[in-house]
Amino acid sequence: MNKMKTKLLTIFMFLISLNAFTQGKIDVKKQFELATAQYELLLKAHPDTNKTPQSFKPDGTYSDRPTEWWCSGFFGGSLWYLYEYTKEEKWKDAAHLWTMAVQSEQYNTRTHDLGFMLYCPFGNGYRLTKNPAYPPIMLKGAESLSTRFDPEVGVIKSWDNFKGHTYPVIIDNMMNLEFLFWATKFGGNKKYYDLSVKHADATLKNHYRKDNSSYHVLLYEKGGKVSKKVTHQGAADESAWARGQAWGLYGYVVMYRETQNKKYLKQAIKIADFIINHPNLPADKVPYWDFNAPKIPNEERDASAAAITSNALMELSTYVKKDKQKNYFEVAEQMLVSLSSPAYRAELNENGNFLIKHCVGHKPGNSEIDVPLVYADYYYLEALLRYDTLINKK
Ligand code: GLY
Repeated sequence: MNKMKTKLLTIFMFLISLNAFTQGKIDVKKQFELATAQYELLLKAHPDTNKTPQSFKPDGTYSDRPTEWWCSGFFGGSLWYLYEYTKEEKWKDAAHLWTMAVQSEQYNTRTHDLGFMLYCPFGNGYRLTKNPAYPPIMLKGAESLSTRFDPEVGVIKSWDNFKGHTYPVIIDNMMNLEFLFWATKFGGNKKYYDLSVKHADATLKNHYRKDNSSYHVLLYEKGGKVSKKVTHQGAADESAWARGQAWGLYGYVVMYRETQNKKYLKQAIKIADFIINHPNLPADKVPYWDFNAPKIPNEERDASAAAITSNALMELSTYVKKDKQKNYFEVAEQMLVSLSSPAYRAELNENGNFLIKHCVGHKPGNSEIDVPLVYADYYYLEALLRYDTLINKK
């Protein structure tokens, strides 16, 4: 009888552990239920599609941005993620409305941010609905973006002017390449693929330090020479701005996915290891806004950096060998567990009904410090979907 009891207990324990594994540590369904309730309220409070919700101010009002702002596509993109999970028509309708609201940006040749602005809303919309209205807008946008690539310099220019310099390139620019790869795949013009590879190669050569952290801003000259390496949003020219490390990691994971060139995989691994082994990465794995911020531990966290990094680590975990696979997945999961906890995850009716709290936009500019940010929500929802796919092996 005792033997039988032990056997039953063993089977019971096994079933419990199996259940814990297949469900994961995050209740994705519950998080999406809360997110849809929050975004229903956000949509009601912010019906005007001429200005996009960026953040929420302590005085209880939204900070809005025009469609030319680099973040204008994230809200539409998040609505597509809600549609992807729920399959409910109302989210498709809302996502379409907010996606079309930024369509004029397809003609914008004054920014490198068209990947964020157009690919996040239109790219997700097309992936999920195959709406034939979307690709012409995206192809025009990819062409606009490509005008910022000067073959004599060899990289896509980020801003038209930075302190009097006319060819600055920021690490964030790696995030536009996925959009350009899509344009080649869909439209057949290899130009976009080729210039993405050139941009990524120059960035790999010039933007990274020996310790595999990235500078924020590089000032390029004709011939591809770099005259200065500085920061704009980081703590110092030689510091590792947390979101910049996240953009670079995500960018090189995409480069590997799109080209299958192992040098990009190696680079992604180096960046991932820099981030996850950094002595200043807190136990909850949500980075301070800069890994070298001067007053750590008395510095703000940047939850947006954690959301972006979690996505990149999850995808990277599927490309590497077993030991690293486990390590990357577990750190990505811990980031997502933290973001889903009350420490970072807003309750219904707080935080302007943005999902994620405690982000930093531009600390040296004294702007958007310890606030919700529309792109933290976008990458959080993306990470939940990725997690669901990996855990449930859909
Ligand atoms: N430039 C985009 C960012 O602030 O991360």
